[in-house]
Amino acid sequence: MKVSKKLLEKYNVATPRYTSYPPANYFHEEFTNKKVEEAISLSNNEHPENISLYIHIPFCNKLCFYCGCNTVISRNGKMIDSYIGTLKKEIVLLKSKLDPNRKVSQVHWGGGTPNYLPIEDIESIMNTLYKNFNFISGAEIAMECHPWHLTYDYVDRLIELKFNRLSLGVQDFNVKVMDSINRNQSIIPIPELVEYVKANNVAVNLDFIYGLPFQTVETFTETIQKAIEISPNRLVTFSYAHVPWIKKAQQKLEKYNLPDADQKVKLFEAAYDLLTKSGYKAIGLDHFAKESDELYIALKGKTLHRNFQGYCTRETTGQVYALGVSGISQLESAYLQSTKNVVEYTQRINEGKFPIEKAYFLSLEEKITREIINELMCNLYLSWKSLSNRFNKPIEELNNLTKEQNQQLKTFESEGLITYNKDEIFITESGKFFIRNIAAAFDPKMQNTTRNFSKAL
Ligand SMILES: C[S@@+](CC[C@H](N)C(=O)[O-])C[C@H]1O[C@@H](n2cnc3c(N)ncnc32)[C@H](O)[C@@H]1O
Ligand code: SF4
Repeated sequence: MKVSKKLLEKYNVATPRYTSYPPANYFHEEFTNKKVEEAISLSNNEHPENISLYIHIPFCNKLCFYCGCNTVISRNGKMIDSYIGTLKKEIVLLKSKLDPNRKVSQVHWGGGTPNYLPIEDIESIMNTLYKNFNFISGAEIAMECHPWHLTYDYVDRLIELKFNRLSLGVQDFNVKVMDSINRNQSIIPIPELVEYVKANNVAVNLDFIYGLPFQTVETFTETIQKAIEISPNRLVTFSYAHVPWIKKAQQKLEKYNLPDADQKVKLFEAAYDLLTKSGYKAIGLDHFAKESDELYIALKGKTLHRNFQGYCTRETTGQVYALGVSGISQLESAYLQSTKNVVEYTQRINEGKFPIEKAYFLSLEEKITREIINELMCNLYLSWKSLSNRFNKPIEELNNLTKEQNQQLKTFESEGLITYNKDEIFITESGKFFIRNIAAAFDPKMQNTTRNFSKAL
């Protein structure tokens, strides 16, 4: 992949990542508890096939300076015990609002660092889930792990609990890079850890970040080459999101000449070329999977989907119900974000209320925009006919909704980023790199916005 420098300069502007539409900084506080309960109740009737559960564990042992996640650095066992107790109450509260005929198809543990918890806490939550919900057979049970805390015994116990996918946050194999971001290496060498996990039929994702201090094309190529030799099922190369106005610790990285946009592109190009030449297929822009992976099969069939937890297929993922602080439920018609404050979270659950701090209720027009953006971001393709079938609206009406975009589409086409006709839009190989900018063209909220987002690249 070769990215044009001219386009890079033009398009490296503040743009949402579109992990949701509308983006999370549009969520607001103007709602009532009743409206939240109604939204959850309504979700039982809208695409009710699957229940996806997201469990947020905010705790980490040590702060990585690049971290953009919602974390609490704590070694306070009492606080953690109390959090686990509250989570169990929240599971029971959620269960009481969901149709008992619905089944769980996915449980995703994220954070923070879920595997920083004692394994007994994970057992206790999983057993509460198994007791309260019915699961489909072969449900995906996944956890984001910091490899530093993983032991063979911990992995064995996760397997006993039916975990079948582990994401390991490697970030980089280079020691100088890791030291600069204040991140500990894995105690068990990653190649051995991955081999062990895979030998137990548990799929492995490895996470990397480009744009960190001391990364050069040479060092990052070495890191990705090493990753390819380890042969994970999936691999992600995240672009480092630098948002020091929100995440103060990221300011500590500014003393190192952080790679600029041009250098970041070179890091990405090197990783992309190496991975795609080594049998990995690109999913969206920055995810890579083996050819036999269900994500690649979904991409080929133009049915790939996406939520806050990453790319997914509609078979495994349904509406997402978040448990724990700061989690965001992604329902068909609403986003509900829980408070980030552990004390407030505990109080609200003890009162028998959902601990929602911010919400967003989507209009039909916003659902259509969400679908357009999702299709472009996931499948690099849009069919007006499919969209018209999905929303039961004539194509002309949909076209009318997006007529403002026509001039921009012409520009994208002249720049080689898309091809299009009256029925379809195709993102080209070079267009993939500017996918957030192309998506933003369809976002009415991006016209004259004053909101701050990280740069597109
Ligand atoms: C929230 S972490 C969870 C797992 C665990 N705490 C860890 O660090 O390995 C999930 C992933 O988010 C990515 N991440 C965190 N902060 C980021 C940032 N500022 N920009 C890009 N990716 C980031 C990292 O690759 C990390 O592995
Ligand atoms: S990157 Fe992971 S381990 Fe590091 S602070 Fe963030 S959530 Fe915690």
